[in-house]
Amino acid sequence: MNVSKQPFAHEPAAPGRPLAGRRCLITGAASGIGRAIATAFAEAGAGLCLTDLDADGLARVAEELGGTAHRADVADPADVLELVRAASQHLGGIDVLVNCAGILTESPLAEMELATWQRTLDVDLTSVFLTCRAVIPGMVAAGNGRIINVASQLGQKGGAGLTHYSAAKAGVLGFTKALAREMSGQGVLVNAIAPGPISTPLVEGLSDEWKRDKEAELPLGRFGTPEEVAPTAVLLASDPGGNLYTGQTLGPNSGDVMA
Ligand SMILES: NC(=O)c1ccc[n+]([C@@H]2O[C@H](COP(=O)([O-])OP(=O)(O)OC[C@H]3O[C@@H](n4cnc5c(N)ncnc54)[C@H](O)[C@@H]3O)[C@@H](O)[C@H]2O)c1
Repeated sequence: MNVSKQPFAHEPAAPGRPLAGRRCLITGAASGIGRAIATAFAEAGAGLCLTDLDADGLARVAEELGGTAHRADVADPADVLELVRAASQHLGGIDVLVNCAGILTESPLAEMELATWQRTLDVDLTSVFLTCRAVIPGMVAAGNGRIINVASQLGQKGGAGLTHYSAAKAGVLGFTKALAREMSGQGVLVNAIAPGPISTPLVEGLSDEWKRDKEAELPLGRFGTPEEVAPTAVLLASDPGGNLYTGQTLGPNSGDVMA
C-alpha cells in the first residue's frame, strides 16, 4: 500500500472540528502566533501538548486551553528528546508538530556578536531539525503525520539588521522542502508558514523606525494579528484541506512577498 495516499488513519473529521482526534505538539505556545495556533487547534478539536521556554506563560495557556504542558528549550537537544518522549506518552503519539518557537533581535552585521548569531541559529533553525528528527520515526511508523514550520517572509526577502534571523528562516524554508521530499511516499507532509509582520511581543523590541518603514511598504498597509495566521496552520493540519500540500510555503504576509 502506498501510505502517501492515506492522509490520516482517523475517521473523517466532524464538521467544525477538523482536527478532532489529532494529537498535536506545538512549540512557542505561550505567546503570539504559537498561542493563537494552540487556541485554534483546541477549537478545532485537537489534543494538545504545548511547550515553551516560558514556564509561567505556558502554564496559563495550558490552563486556558486544557492541554498538557511541558517546558523545554527547543534549542537544547536533551530537552527536545525529553519533550517528544513526554508528549508521545501524554497524547499516545504525535500526529502534528508545529514548530513556532522563535527569537528576534536587531543588529547591524558589523556589530553582531557571534553569540547573538549562534543563539538565533540555534533557536530559529536548529530547533526545527531537533524536533523533526525526534518526531519523524513515530510518524513514519504510523504512516502519517504533518509538520508545520513557522518561518518568516524575512527568510524569503531578507531584512536589514536581521541577517541572523533572515538566514535562520531561509534555512527553515530549505529544510522544509528537503524534508518534504525525503518523506514523500511515507505519509508525512511537511510545510512552512512564512508570516509577514504580525503584532506580537516578538516585534515589540524592534525599533519604531523599522516598524514604521515596514508598515509603509506593505501592500495591505498593516501588520497582521496572530489570529489571522492560525487558520493557515489549521488548514495544513487538516484532512482533506491540507492533503495536497507538501514542501510548500504559505504566506499570510499582508502582501510583503508575492510568490
Ligand atoms: N511576529 C512576527 O512578525 C513574525 C513574523 C514572521 C515569523 N514569525 C515567527 O513566528 C514565530 C512565533 O513568533 P511570535 O511573533 O508569536 O513571537 P512571541 O515572542 O510572541 O512568541 C515566541 C515564543 O517562543 C518562545 N521561545 C523563545 N525561545 C524559545 C526556546 N529556546 N525554547 C522554547 N520556546 C522558546 C517564547 O518564550 C515565546 O513564547 C517565531 O518563529 C517567529 O520567528 C513572527
